Amino acid sequence: MPILRETVLRALQDKNVEGDGNMLRTHTCGELRAADEGKKVVLAGWLDAIRVQGKVGFLLLRDRDGVTQVFLKSDLAKEHAATPKESVLLVTGVVKRRPENQLRHEMRTGMIEVAAESVEVLTEAETPLPIEIADETTTGLDKRLDYRFLDVRRKRIGSIFKIRSRIIAFTNEFFSKERFIAINTPKLTKSGVESGAEEFKMEYFGKKASLAQSPQVYKQMFVMAGLERVYEIGTIFRAEKSRTTRHLTEFVGIDMEMGFITDEHDVMDVVERFCQYITHRVAEECKEELAALDVSVPTPQKIPRMTIQEIRTILAKQGKIVPEDEDLDAEGERLLGEHVLAHYGCEFVFVLNYPWKKRPFYHMRPKGDPHGTKSFDLIYNGVEIGTGAQREHRLAILEQQCQEKGIDMGLLGFYRDIFRYGAIPHGGVGLGLDRIVEQMLHLGNVREAILLPRDPDRLTP
Ligand code: 4AD
Ligand code: MG
Repeated sequence: MPILRETVLRALQDKNVEGDGNMLRTHTCGELRAADEGKKVVLAGWLDAIRVQGKVGFLLLRDRDGVTQVFLKSDLAKEHAATPKESVLLVTGVVKRRPENQLRHEMRTGMIEVAAESVEVLTEAETPLPIEIADETTTGLDKRLDYRFLDVRRKRIGSIFKIRSRIIAFTNEFFSKERFIAINTPKLTKSGVESGAEEFKMEYFGKKASLAQSPQVYKQMFVMAGLERVYEIGTIFRAEKSRTTRHLTEFVGIDMEMGFITDEHDVMDVVERFCQYITHRVAEECKEELAALDVSVPTPQKIPRMTIQEIRTILAKQGKIVPEDEDLDAEGERLLGEHVLAHYGCEFVFVLNYPWKKRPFYHMRPKGDPHGTKSFDLIYNGVEIGTGAQREHRLAILEQQCQEKGIDMGLLGFYRDIFRYGAIPHGGVGLGLDRIVEQMLHLGNVREAILLPRDPDRLTP
């Protein structure tokens, strides 16, 4: 529409912006302030609400940046009174200061409204909407996920994914500062090392293949390759049958591996700094999104490091028995989370020295303790978000550990080779991005933290 294009370009000139970076519009719906009074603007967005009062009308126009009130004089009010919510509108108008009694200080654009000169319906939304955008509580999670593209239009839900995006950026910043090298490893593999039961098996040109259930072998390989410190943010597949609030079949892992370590505490030191970095950066940079979610994100000081044996004693006093040689279950983790919050004021805790029986063959065992491992879990607000360890890099011992676990080292193929030509002491951790987001924002279900969750019951949208 040439007239509109002229208006946009002229308004952009007034704004002193070179080019048309905003394309269809001159401003976003979150941008206009009292100082913009008198400007001619073009806004585009979804119709959030419309109300006609007497002869005139008001509509709220929404985009990802915010909401702007638009004043409609009588002819426009009449024309749009029945325009369905969520239709996409293009509004041309002039910025006016709101009358004193209509100022909305809690709203970023609450000092102004745009007096519309024209309102064009770009696309009309069908009615009724399959889910009510304004009121999240009226729709269950399953239906929300079926219509995720509408669900995300909600400010609260959109905020989750803006924060998730920032966490990915902060993770890259952090590992870059700590001199880690970003790697990308194959997701189509011959077989994994974590546990055969969790593999998605598939046909691969007449051969058998699996979807990677962890970049474990590859990150170790590239430490040995001389990169020394590597990390990957990548998709992980697990044929996890569990229908819980913390398990997905496809999730995003933040994996790292580092060489020349003294022991697993060197790895935990980096993980501790990682937790401090991302919580601090989110608190600093995502204030508006955190307010929309009504959560605060404290930065941990020192993260307590407790052995599983100590924790058994603590939990036993609360009547929770964790058998010798057993892992913490979900309830154990929750109780531990409450304990460290109450006693250390910390939302994180490292659990050390998990039983060998429960850990994979590649974890190193402490000298003189064949039942333990130099491993740790990281618990955040009562849920495991990471597992790490010092790895066994001495081939003879690794082969023996394989034997003990009943694994044929020959089947591992190249994994054996990486320890043959100069293997360095090393360790690492695998963290779950989705669980980090879930726990940081207190979402209560990992499905809330990922746009399109996959679990045994869900393969769509
Ligand atoms: O504890 P996991 O299975 O450990 C490993 O994959 C090792 N290779 C890590 C290492 O370096 N030693 O997985 C690591 C993390 C978990 O702590 C959790 O945050 C996440 O990955 N995770 C899941 N997240 C969502 N759904 C699932 N089914 C998950 N399984 C693991
Ligand atoms: Mg684990």
